[in-house]
Amino acid sequence: MEKKPVLYSGIQPTGILTIGNFIGAINNWLKIQEDYFSIYSIVDLHAITVRQDPIEYRSRALSFYAQYIACGLDPEKSILYFQSHVHQHAELTWILNCYSYLGELRRMTQYKEKSKKNADNLNVGLLDYPVLMAADILLYQASVVPVGIDQKQHLELARDIADRFNNIYGQTFTIPEVYLGKQGNKIFSLQDPFAKMSKSDPNPDAAVSIIESPDSIARKFKRAVTDSESVVEYREDKPGISNLLVILSSMTDKSIDTLVKEYHDAGYKKFKEDVAEAVIEKLRPVREDYERLMKDKAYLLNIAGQGASRAAALAERTLAKVKKKIGLIERPSLN
Ligand code: TYM
Repeated sequence: MEKKPVLYSGIQPTGILTIGNFIGAINNWLKIQEDYFSIYSIVDLHAITVRQDPIEYRSRALSFYAQYIACGLDPEKSILYFQSHVHQHAELTWILNCYSYLGELRRMTQYKEKSKKNADNLNVGLLDYPVLMAADILLYQASVVPVGIDQKQHLELARDIADRFNNIYGQTFTIPEVYLGKQGNKIFSLQDPFAKMSKSDPNPDAAVSIIESPDSIARKFKRAVTDSESVVEYREDKPGISNLLVILSSMTDKSIDTLVKEYHDAGYKKFKEDVAEAVIEKLRPVREDYERLMKDKAYLLNIAGQGASRAAALAERTLAKVKKKIGLIERPSLN
């Protein structure tokens, strides 16, 4: 089972799972999942760094789990689990905290942004977030971590922490490589083509969910902010159109060059309609599968339990090794 190199990735169960998450992360996971032993988590401990309504949070986390499977992640071939079901994450985080520096955590771009947004709840978790993320990855000896570009800095920190630990105690952690898709590692908002498409954008027209209805998808692309020219070209000064080209290319597997030739003079209306159509068609089976899966919560919880057990067994191996290396006494068994 673990002969293949390990791939690890995760998504926070906040807001909606967007086509940005799909293109920047999940679609790449699907493309390379055969080459790796893959472990995917719903990182529900990460997302409590901002306040969540408990009832909503519980149902959203399960909905995200169903969306993972509906996208094609196979619970037989890979491990799909909830982070909070594997206590080793929290435990390794504490240990790694003692090998991480305040200065490097304060420099994280996402911390700076989030601390501005959450000035009224500037909790320690916001600062410590990347150490938990390092623990996620290092627990499983992951060698590749496919993410969007916004997570690259966190990955670099995870590598630094792993390297620091290995230098003190000898080889303990695999140093993970970041895997960025060739294109689409940053999908932009449909309403502001300079801002990242975000799961929790308060403007509902900014992001498209992967389980959204066809009508709503069509409406959002129709309203997508572009520019006042009319030619379809991939250019820095045409961020809206370029973003739509990346989306269309990712959904159809046609190259941007091919699409530019096809749509150059088609007009924005037709272009936007076709982007919407491609997104609708690509996501149709995902939505249908999702609806089917959500009718069987017992099945979802059952495979989540199995995923957690398999994940915990792997995580425990690394944690035990770490504890031994740093000099903690092994827990005596009572019989
Ligand atoms: P999160 O939940 O914000 O996003 C999940 C994944 O989607 C990518 N992504 C995007 N890619 C392209 N365009 C976008 N607009 C876009 N928005 C999001 C993210 O880069 C990410 O790959 N800290 C992580 C979750 C995490 C994790 C981990 C990831 C926790 N532990 C361990 C990998 C390994 C996060 O907040 O992602």
